[in-house]
Amino acid sequence: MNIRLASLEDERTLYDICVITGDSGKDATGIFDQPDLLGDIWVGPYLHLSADHCYVVQSDEGVPLGYCIATLDTTSFETVTDAVWWPAKQAFYRKPDISKQDSWSRDERIAHLIHNPLRSPSEFLEEFPSHAHINLVPEMQGKGWGKKLMQAMEDSLRSAGSQGVHLILSAKNQNALAFYKAVGYQIIFERPGEIGVGKKL
Ligand SMILES: CC(C)(COP(=O)(O)OP(=O)(O)OC[C@H]1O[C@@H](n2cnc3c(N)ncnc32)[C@H](O)[C@@H]1OP(=O)(O)O)[C@@H](O)C(=O)NCCC(=O)NCCS
Repeated sequence: MNIRLASLEDERTLYDICVITGDSGKDATGIFDQPDLLGDIWVGPYLHLSADHCYVVQSDEGVPLGYCIATLDTTSFETVTDAVWWPAKQAFYRKPDISKQDSWSRDERIAHLIHNPLRSPSEFLEEFPSHAHINLVPEMQGKGWGKKLMQAMEDSLRSAGSQGVHLILSAKNQNALAFYKAVGYQIIFERPGEIGVGKKL
């Protein structure tokens, strides 16, 4: 096993890992009709538009078993994704009817995020301009690879001049919160259903 930069050839595997860990850290296989919705939000934009800061841990055969993907400057990333990523996905995934929000399916709840992309709170971006996402397949969890991936991501961002990085997690994902605290992150904001953690680099 070792850590290397991700490439576009890893895209399918990383989309699959995103689903395997897509229910607040637990397996979301089978609960979405269009499971690539998850990767189209939480993987694709980074691999395509921020590849310099995307890392995988791979098996001896070169298959990714986990990833930590990041972007250096959240504000620029949001501008670029608004221009070149979301429009194509908005054309592909139907916009859910807001008047039927109370009865949205799981797919519709995620498709809403394609049409209304999540934003990091702007007031934290001066201190923590970069952001990241990390997921490992269950067999790789609890063996130190998450910590190593975070170090690779942080080194990469620091070398590129970042002052700080944040991650946003589901408030239900207490395992991830404990992990982030163990690797030096502090809670920087909370909003309904989500927690933001950050670390100065
Ligand atoms: C969360 C995740 C990335 C952590 O990676 P990991 O490889 O399992 O964690 P590590 O083995 O590298 O642990 C690093 C440190 O965090 C601590 N830690 C990890 N999980 C913990 C938990 N649930 N409770 C307490 N401490 C924990 C470890 O004890 C270790 O501490 P140490 O450095 O003092 O020994 C990984 O478990 C994962 O992908 N989970 C499912 C997907 C997910 O939840 N992703 C985050 C979405 S926001």
